Amino acid sequence: KILILDFGSQLTQLIARRVREAHVYCEVQPCDVSDEWLRAYAQDGSLKGVILSGSHASVYEDSTDKAPQAVFALGLPVLGICYGMQTMAHQLGGKVESGRQREFGMAAVRARGHTALLADIADFTSPEGHGMLEVWMSHGDKVTELPPGFTLMASTDSCPIAGMADEKRRFYAVQFHPEVTHTVQGRALLERFVLGICGARPDWVMRDHIAEALVQIRQQVGVEQVILGLSGGVDSSVAAALIQRAIGAQLTCVFVDHGLLRLNEGDMVMDMFAGRLQARVIRVDASESFLSRLAGVSDPEAKRKIIGGLFIEVFKTEAAKLKANNAEHRGATFLAQGTIYPDVIESGGAKSKKAVTIKSHHNVGGLPEQLGLKLLEPLRDLFKDEVRELGLALGLPPEMVYRHPFPGPGLGVRILGEVKKEFADLLRQADAIFIEELHNFTDPATGKTWYQLTSQAFAVFLPVKSVGVMGDGRTYDYVVALRAVQTSDFMTADQAELPYALLKKVSSRIINEVRGINRVTYDISSKPPATIEWE
Ligand code: XMP
Repeated sequence: KILILDFGSQLTQLIARRVREAHVYCEVQPCDVSDEWLRAYAQDGSLKGVILSGSHASVYEDSTDKAPQAVFALGLPVLGICYGMQTMAHQLGGKVESGRQREFGMAAVRARGHTALLADIADFTSPEGHGMLEVWMSHGDKVTELPPGFTLMASTDSCPIAGMADEKRRFYAVQFHPEVTHTVQGRALLERFVLGICGARPDWVMRDHIAEALVQIRQQVGVEQVILGLSGGVDSSVAAALIQRAIGAQLTCVFVDHGLLRLNEGDMVMDMFAGRLQARVIRVDASESFLSRLAGVSDPEAKRKIIGGLFIEVFKTEAAKLKANNAEHRGATFLAQGTIYPDVIESGGAKSKKAVTIKSHHNVGGLPEQLGLKLLEPLRDLFKDEVRELGLALGLPPEMVYRHPFPGPGLGVRILGEVKKEFADLLRQADAIFIEELHNFTDPATGKTWYQLTSQAFAVFLPVKSVGVMGDGRTYDYVVALRAVQTSDFMTADQAELPYALLKKVSSRIINEVRGINRVTYDISSKPPATIEWE
C-alpha cells in the first residue's frame, strides 16, 4: 500500500484518487502522525512508499507542519508534491524561501536529467530542443537550494528548482501538481511513482473497498441505530445499500415524499429498498403538507425555503417517532448521509484540518446538530464515478446508479411560479415521456442512448396558456419546455444537440398523451448565462 500524508491541501484526496485509479491501495493520514506510529505502520512490510501532499500554507509563513522525520529513514520511496517538496527540502537540509509572488496556473516545465520519474516524458519540445511538460502550479514559496544528495529534476523560468530527486534514496519531489488533470502527464507520473518506483501491486479493486467500508461502518456504529434520509438519488441510495449490508436492521431509511417527485419515483424507491434489498424503509407521504404550504407562493427562493424547511421538520418528526417506538433499542443515534467527496471539498470540511471554506453545501448543513445525532458518511472519500461503481458492486441496478441528478426541491423548481398538484401531475407525465424517448433513441456515432449522452434532462412546466387545434376543436392549454444539457461539473453546461426526430417524437407524444398540454418548446440556452434549472 501507499501512505499519503496530508498537509491540508484541497487536492489531497485527488492524489488518493489517482493512486486508486492505478489500482493501488492507499491511505490518507494527517501529516502530524508520530515517528513511532509511522514505524509501526511500516513494520509488516506492506507499505511501499509515501507521498507528501501539498498544503495551502507555506513552510515559513504560517506553518510549522513537518513530515515525521522517520519518513526519510524507512528506506522507502518518498514523493513530495508542492508543500510536500518544500518540507522535504527543508527537513533534509535544503533551503526554502518565501516567494513574494504566488505562481498560479499553467506552466511549462523543463524536465532535466534522466530520473526514473521524468525520463522520456514530454508534452512538447522547446525551441532549444528540451523536453517540456505542461503542468499546473500553485505555490508561493519555493526551494532555492537543493538538499545534500539531491539533483535538479525540473525547472521553469520563475521556479528554477521545480523538481528534485535523490535517486539513491528514491526521494522525488515536484513543485507542480501531478494529481490535477491540467498536468497532462500527471497520471503517468503518479503511476510511475507508485507502480514503478515503489513497486506497489496494482491489485486494489472496489470489492476490497466494500469489505473495508463494511468493517469501518460496523466499528463506528457498534450496537447503535442509524437513520438515513433516502431520496432515490444516486448518493443516498448507494449509502443506504452499503450501510444496510453492514448493519442490516440497525438501519432505518426515511423516504419523504413531498409530492414533487418524478412519475412512479416513490414506488420505485420502495420496490428497490424495501423489496429487493429488504431494508427497513419508512415512506412518509407528506405531499399534502408540502402542497398546502406552497399554495399562493410563487417566488423561487421562498419556494425553496419552504420545501427545505418542511423537509427537515418532517424528517425530525419521523426521527422522534422512531425514538419513541423503539423501546428495546436506544433510538437512532446516527444520521447517515450520502455526502460524497466533492460535497466535502465544497463545504471546506475535508478531513484535512486546514482546507479553506469555499461554500457550504446543503448535505452537510445543520440537520445533525438539530437532531442531536452523530454523522455517518461512508461515501465521504469517494468521487461520483467511484460511488457509481460501488453502487453496481453492491448490486444496485445500472438504471439507478446512472440516473441523472434530481434537485432536492424536485418539481417545485420545475413548475414556474405557484406550485399546484394539477401542474405537478401534468409535468410528471410529460417528463416521463421525455425521459423514455431519451432512452429509446440511440446515437449511431457512439452507440449510446441520448439519456446516456446527456448529463441532465427534464421537462419544465410553464403556467402560460396558448391556443392550439386538435381534431376539429380549438384548445387553450399549458406549455412544457424540454431541457437537456451536457456538462462535466454542472457549473457550466451546454444545451444538448438532440436530434430533431427525437424532439418531434417527444413533442407529439406529450401533446397527444398529456391532456392539458398543447405546446412543447426546447430550451437552447447554455449555462451561463442561463442556469440548468429554470428556478
Ligand atoms: P443550476 O440550476 O444552478 O443547477 O444550474 C446546477 C445543478 O444543481 C442542481 N440543483 C439542486 N440540487 N438542491 C439540489 O439538491 C437544490 O436546491 C438544487 N438546485 C439546483 C440542478 O438540478 C443541477 O444538477
